[in-house]
Amino acid sequence: MILKRDEPLAPRTSYRIGGTAEYFFIPERMEEVPQAMSYCRAKGLDLRVLGGGTNVLVGDRGWPAVLSLERFKHTDAFGPFAKAEAGASFPAFVKKLADNSSKGAEALCGIPGTVGGALLMNAGGHYGEIGEFVKRVKVVEADGRIVSLDREQCGFRYRESDLKNRIILSADFEFSEGDREEIRTRMRDIFQKKKASQPLHSHSAGCVFKNPPGLSAGRMIDECGFKGTRIGGAAVSVLHANFLTNDDDASASDMLELISRIQGQIKERHGVELELEIKVWS
Ligand code: EPU
Repeated sequence: MILKRDEPLAPRTSYRIGGTAEYFFIPERMEEVPQAMSYCRAKGLDLRVLGGGTNVLVGDRGWPAVLSLERFKHTDAFGPFAKAEAGASFPAFVKKLADNSSKGAEALCGIPGTVGGALLMNAGGHYGEIGEFVKRVKVVEADGRIVSLDREQCGFRYRESDLKNRIILSADFEFSEGDREEIRTRMRDIFQKKKASQPLHSHSAGCVFKNPPGLSAGRMIDECGFKGTRIGGAAVSVLHANFLTNDDDASASDMLELISRIQGQIKERHGVELELEIKVWS
């Protein structure tokens, strides 16, 4: 297993924000994941897994211990079945699914990150979520046991799952067969829609807040007049108000201040607590 010290985390996140990891583990075999966990437990270090870093705001002081599954990237799709290791690129996996005529893949296009992160968050949008297609997920339990969970045991719901206190290693999926050209056309269509309404080329972590039941966080923030608001280098996107971007060397504290200003205003105007969709490591 590779162990780095004081590894910069900002370049490993889409926000390009955050301090260093005091300990940064890169296991080369699955069995090394529980070893890293027990090492951290013995030293009293809080270990977090970093996937594609596309949904996380790392604090300016960084994090004590981080594990990357970047050596586990294998994916496969054959007939109705597919499998993927947690460190695989989610967009590359989705493309493979589309090439395999797996119906439903189109709903997952335009989502960045790794397969592990997508599973943990039950990534998706208006068109569908990854959890719908899961058969089994292989995880390391908090006590170090490697077990296989059925979909029902994963507790997939809106942008959440019961996988969060576990480390996801890999998953098996099942899709029905669709028409490859139809899937590709729909994918292009969904991607165009996202490109028109989301700042896909900025340093962001996608939507920052969950949509409260029956409401749209983006619309509420927009209606409060927040688009373009800046604190330090952090800004509310003018394209989509639920996207906060790092426009100019923002610090995590700039971003957190902007987040809490938005939450305060929405609470005052609508009486609604906006819950974070991104993970904050601070
Ligand atoms: N809207 C505004 N102003 C804005 C943004 C949105 O008025 O600045 C309005 C839109 O016009 C629309 C409504 O709000 O009527 C909903 O907006 P949108 O269609 O963009 O969808 P969303 O609910 O904001 C969700 C996911 C996105 C996902 C899209 C498309 C959440 C929090 N967000 O966005 O996911 O890409 O649907 O499927 O569930 C993410 O999770 O990071 C993410 C980007």
